[in-house]
Amino acid sequence: MSTAKSDVKRITVHTLQGMKTQKKKISMLTAYDFSMAKIIDAAGIDIILVGDSASNVMAGHETTLPITLDQMIYHAQSVVRGVERALVVVDLPFGTYQSNSTKALESAIRIMKESGAHAVKMEGGEEIAESVSRIISSGIPVMGHLGLIPQSIYKFGTYTVRAKEDLEAEKLKKDALTLQEAGCFGIVLEKIPAHLAAEVTASLHIPIIGIGAGGQCDGQVLVSHDLLGITKDFNPRFLRRYANLYDTIKESVEHYIRDVQSSDFPNQEEQY
Ligand code: KIV
Repeated sequence: MSTAKSDVKRITVHTLQGMKTQKKKISMLTAYDFSMAKIIDAAGIDIILVGDSASNVMAGHETTLPITLDQMIYHAQSVVRGVERALVVVDLPFGTYQSNSTKALESAIRIMKESGAHAVKMEGGEEIAESVSRIISSGIPVMGHLGLIPQSIYKFGTYTVRAKEDLEAEKLKKDALTLQEAGCFGIVLEKIPAHLAAEVTASLHIPIIGIGAGGQCDGQVLVSHDLLGITKDFNPRFLRRYANLYDTIKESVEHYIRDVQSSDFPNQEEQY
């Protein structure tokens, strides 16, 4: 019997499948900590991704490669505590699933058992299919990730748009089908031509979530720090900023410093 925190109806992988069938768009954002997850969940997001982009936006690394499984589990635990409704998906970090399917399964089990998250996400196609099926066979839902896959940045050499050439586009379509056949409940397509993402979305029955992959996908994902304008120097064409929190936070802190220095803060009402 479940001991749910509230009466809120949780999003499951089945809800998402229903949304695709009913042509309702799916919204997805990243979160890495309790407070942000709580706000994003309260706003009504469908999927919260504990992305390995935490390596960039939380830890300040240049790539997603350095983040560890323990660090991802810590972020995921914090997010899960803040979420009542959204499906929480956690990235399997680089080096925790590529070597063999036993290691992949052990890593996925650790994430599920230690964080309380609901699913994992993995980058790659054919080459990880065996691991994907083994993880799904153990009862863990898996989301795929194709196109620009940041864990392979040193192979690509650049963060530019992927699958513009026919050969890579054909491989991507084959990989997407392979992931669906392996049992993935959804796939993220990152930074590929919109017409290719539209073709994959139309040909597969599982939800396709795009980031820089055009408007025909079943849903969209962004890194919350980018959408909120906390990051300032990342300006890809696909990014729409809904706030400028970098300046809001900086100006607030500057104001606070001035108030402390001038003894304006704390005033009579702000003390005991
Ligand atoms: O780690 C991440 O934030 C991601 C999204 C960009 C999809 O994988």
